[in-house]
Amino acid sequence: MLNLLSTSTVPQTKCSSVRLSDSEQPKVLVVDDHPSSRMTAVALLSVEGYEVLEAESGPAALECVVEANPDLILLDVMMPGMDGYEVCRRLKQDEQTRLIPVVFITALNDRRSRIMGIEAGGDDFLTKPFDRLELSARVKSLVGQKRLNEDLDHAEQVLFSMARSVESRDPDTGDHCERLLALGKSFGEFIQLSRHEIRDLIWGAYLHDIGKIGIPDAVLLKAGKLTPEEWEIMKQHVLIGEKICQPMRTLAGVIPIIRHHHERWDGSGYPDNLVGDEIPYLAQVFQCIDIYDALTSERPYKKAFTSAEALQIMAEETGKGWRNPQLFQQFSEFISSKQEKEPSCRCAPIQNS
Ligand SMILES: [Fe+2]
Repeated sequence: MLNLLSTSTVPQTKCSSVRLSDSEQPKVLVVDDHPSSRMTAVALLSVEGYEVLEAESGPAALECVVEANPDLILLDVMMPGMDGYEVCRRLKQDEQTRLIPVVFITALNDRRSRIMGIEAGGDDFLTKPFDRLELSARVKSLVGQKRLNEDLDHAEQVLFSMARSVESRDPDTGDHCERLLALGKSFGEFIQLSRHEIRDLIWGAYLHDIGKIGIPDAVLLKAGKLTPEEWEIMKQHVLIGEKICQPMRTLAGVIPIIRHHHERWDGSGYPDNLVGDEIPYLAQVFQCIDIYDALTSERPYKKAFTSAEALQIMAEETGKGWRNPQLFQQFSEFISSKQEKEPSCRCAPIQNS
């Protein structure tokens, strides 16, 4: 649900439309407190075949966005009450509306307004009085771009749904992804990863095993030990996952996690037998939380180890050369600090471990 209106008082202004709705017909919202200015834009855009909506103030515009989900907003800068910059900031901060292109309407050569518009997240500018051809070209281009972005977002959503279905196919893992997500976010912050790196880690939590969708049930769900041949099939999941996510530009930072989350520090992992820092750092970080969660969760073939037991096992594996010793040290410190802050969490130390 959109929360754009939470701090604003919405006046009675209606979200008026000059054409009947058609789901394929792009919608443009024109926001201006001067009716004459709106009329010009409405007239030009209606001729071009757009459904045109009008709002006479910032709060009315936000209300209209919630109601009508326009494909583009032409936004006047100077309006009484909430100005255009504030409207734009609110739209761009909201996950539901950030993809709607905002075109600021400014006076010719108003450099300061343009800079403020860029800072508020505006996508383009048009000057008054409108040039019909320029208006038409800008609107057409931005509406096309917005629809493409929506498709990309939808494609991402499909991938995340696929990942969830993989997780539910393997009943042993329970809420593995959700736990990894929380652990990845807090460990990422602990070691001061950037916002983008933490986002990649969180997406990695969902997508790292998406390639298991290509592994037959007979192998994925086999109760006993895998034969060498079956193990070779299982190892393919990292390559299948990479192939599925590769076309998505927005997933570029997640691909190394998907491909390399089973590498080992001494080169004995798969698929590329990478050694030490050849293993992408985020894949190393992800591996820590993935293994820790697997160890501290109950599975049909094993009990849930306590936090201390899990760290002990990971320390032994690090001693064998499987993990980055420095990163493991940071991970141990992270778990300890978590225990101090949340003594009741499931990572709390168990006395008799
Ligand atoms: Fe995996």
